[in-house]
Amino acid sequence: MKILLTGSGGREHALAWKIAQSPLLTELHCAPGNPGTAALGTNVPLKDTDIDGIVAHASEKAIDLVVVGPEAPLALGLADRLNKAGIPCFGPSQEAARIESSKGYLKDLCAEHNIPTAAYGRFEEATAAKAFLASMCAPYVIKADGLAAGKGVIIAETLPEAETAIDEMLGGRFGEAGAEIVIEEFLPGEEASFFAITDGTHIVPMIGAQDHKRAFDGDTGPNTGGMGAYSPAPVFTPDVQQQVMSQIIEPTVKALAARGTPYCGVLYAGLMIGPDGPRLIEYNARFGDPECQVMMRRMQSDIVPILMGAATGKLDGQSFQWTDETAALVVLANQGYPGSYEKGSLIKGVEEAGTLHGVEIFHAGTAIADGGLTATGGRVLNVTATGKTGRDAIRQAYIAVDRIDWPEGFCRQDIGWRMLEREET
Ligand code: AMP
Ligand code: GLY
Repeated sequence: MKILLTGSGGREHALAWKIAQSPLLTELHCAPGNPGTAALGTNVPLKDTDIDGIVAHASEKAIDLVVVGPEAPLALGLADRLNKAGIPCFGPSQEAARIESSKGYLKDLCAEHNIPTAAYGRFEEATAAKAFLASMCAPYVIKADGLAAGKGVIIAETLPEAETAIDEMLGGRFGEAGAEIVIEEFLPGEEASFFAITDGTHIVPMIGAQDHKRAFDGDTGPNTGGMGAYSPAPVFTPDVQQQVMSQIIEPTVKALAARGTPYCGVLYAGLMIGPDGPRLIEYNARFGDPECQVMMRRMQSDIVPILMGAATGKLDGQSFQWTDETAALVVLANQGYPGSYEKGSLIKGVEEAGTLHGVEIFHAGTAIADGGLTATGGRVLNVTATGKTGRDAIRQAYIAVDRIDWPEGFCRQDIGWRMLEREET
């Protein structure tokens, strides 16, 4: 089977690593990929948002399956274009991907189907938004409706701050994405992610994971794409997992099918696990990054039949096997991230660190230059390790981090603290 994977982050390197282990694979193409995927297949110099280029490449090379990593090409209709060309695609249509690309759309769907989530209002105009705000309690959660690269959510502690956020968003701070806003009830609890794969009708549950969104130790500093992750997440007891499937994921898949926009691909549920059980914060129409990487480290099944099954309506009877071991991940980021940073610094010792027991290192913002491996992005390397306990996995990941020589990089030193606290009690 010839597979084309789109994207260039750690998520895509981990997916490529898992796909490359399949006996069903004959060729792996990555568009555009990164130095990590180059060692597993052929990198094709196409941007992941170059829809015409990707469809043309898939047709020319007689690709059997396209696996879409990031969300942007889905919102641009890549899956629709591929399906029209008769090429199976793992990833939802533009219409089904609205569960990620429009927060208001998702909230209405939840309200219609009693899916547990925060109470909300949708607004295009500031006066009505502020009147609604006055009926809520602090802290106030204000969101741009559209895709805003993970930056479209403001949690305001006071009413004046919240009103300023409304004026800024509706005033064009996020462009089109902020032409409409959603105001939500603040949900207390512990945040975690759960993943499931669906062909539109059948659902294969995956597992849960947690990431660390803030840049600095103690979960402080600005929000990032994620500075580390681990799986399993102890907050997902079998009971919680069952509730997530029956109250959130299953009704969503049914609702989208009933609307005539069946969802094919991975559903990434961002959840708040609180005193009343799990509630949905948001969906993403893609795998989480870095969460995907720790899931790939724990997956024992061949992923290819499930990706293909989801893309072709044949998931019935399929399931995943997972190791009981914990997988942990520490992100090495460029100093300055998530703000501005220098590009081109040299990184040494990655290969040697990758030979440590239980360790795999996935690339994100790296490039190969004359002198060796260099840093080109914000999140640069993902150091993953597996271990019998969370403590073992985390310790091994940090041992590997210490073998990497990159003075211009930094990482958090406290990845997995919640998991370790629970392990100790
Ligand atoms: P989102 O982009 O919707 O995932 O929101 C970004 C982050 O804001 C989430 O990961 C949560 O940490 C936080 N958040 C969003 N909505 C809520 C809510 N209703 N209650 C509490 N925290 C929230
Ligand atoms: N790790 C968060 C995300 O992928 O959106």
